Amino acid sequence: MITTEQKTGLALVTGAASGLGFELSLLLAKDGYDLVLADVDAEKLQQAKLEIAALYASDIQLIIKDLSKCNVAQQIYEALDGKAIDVLINNAGFGIYGSFNDTDWEREAAMLNLHVLTTTHLTKLVLNGMVARNRGKILNMSSLAAFQPGPLMSLYYASKAYILSFSEAIANELKGTGVSVTCLCPGQTNTCFQEVVANGASVSDNKINFNIACPKQVAKYGYEAMQKGKVVAIPGNINKFLSKLPRFLSRKTATAVIRKIQEKNRVCKT
Ligand SMILES: NC(=O)c1ccc[n+]([C@@H]2O[C@H](COP(=O)([O-])OP(=O)(O)OC[C@H]3O[C@@H](n4cnc5c(N)ncnc54)[C@H](OP(=O)(O)O)[C@@H]3O)[C@@H](O)[C@H]2O)c1
Repeated sequence: MITTEQKTGLALVTGAASGLGFELSLLLAKDGYDLVLADVDAEKLQQAKLEIAALYASDIQLIIKDLSKCNVAQQIYEALDGKAIDVLINNAGFGIYGSFNDTDWEREAAMLNLHVLTTTHLTKLVLNGMVARNRGKILNMSSLAAFQPGPLMSLYYASKAYILSFSEAIANELKGTGVSVTCLCPGQTNTCFQEVVANGASVSDNKINFNIACPKQVAKYGYEAMQKGKVVAIPGNINKFLSKLPRFLSRKTATAVIRKIQEKNRVCKT
């Protein structure tokens, strides 16, 4: 175990049980933060806590909640019991593949609640205290999907565009307050996310099998960008180039290119 003499602060991470949220939690613990970890699956979150606690001396509080439910941000905020949050990472999310005409509304509404409402409300609740203390860091998880429309994953792309726009706007409003907002926009990353989108097919089943990033590297890139107060963080040169696609092509053509990529790439289990 690595002990940390000096505690750095308290960090709240959503979707911390796996993938990027788990990797970001490890980086926070390594830097001496105590953690509040929120996720939907109690067993997976407990396992994540054990793995972090085996390496680092952080105090770790767990909050088991479905973050797609109404008013869950308020419940999380109340569970903090007045503790000041120094870092907020709004990471929990999932994707849905399919033509909008065919996809399941209940699942889509849950995704929109999670990406849009919970992210926004939790930010609002935590931000107040950060501004009053003149310090704080917020990392919102968006995606490369934020930069143009995404046929066959229309609501996922639109919700990630919302997160990017919201984050850039409040980052500007918060200049001079000591609070920074960073929006991380990864491309394909090798986590459970890809299996959820593809209904159980693994990322190795994807037909476009290059430019799939390792979650540890993406988390490290995002974490360092957050610590520097960078507003938009896009890991990887190919992804940086792809984010500019709508500037080189018309928006209509960029949308058509994304449709081709989605059609060709995705292997979904039925
Ligand atoms: N992987 C990629 O290619 C990629 C690319 C760009 C952006 N992202 C974004 O990165 C973020 C993290 O995803 P990841 O790649 O690390 O995938 P992941 O391994 O599936 O991690 C997502 C975590 O969020 C949790 N979660 C999902 N829905 C939740 C809910 N309603 N309430 C509470 N927790 C919930 C998941 O729990 P369960 O597994 O138990 O549902 C899981 O622990 C997401 O916002 C995603 O959109 C991912």
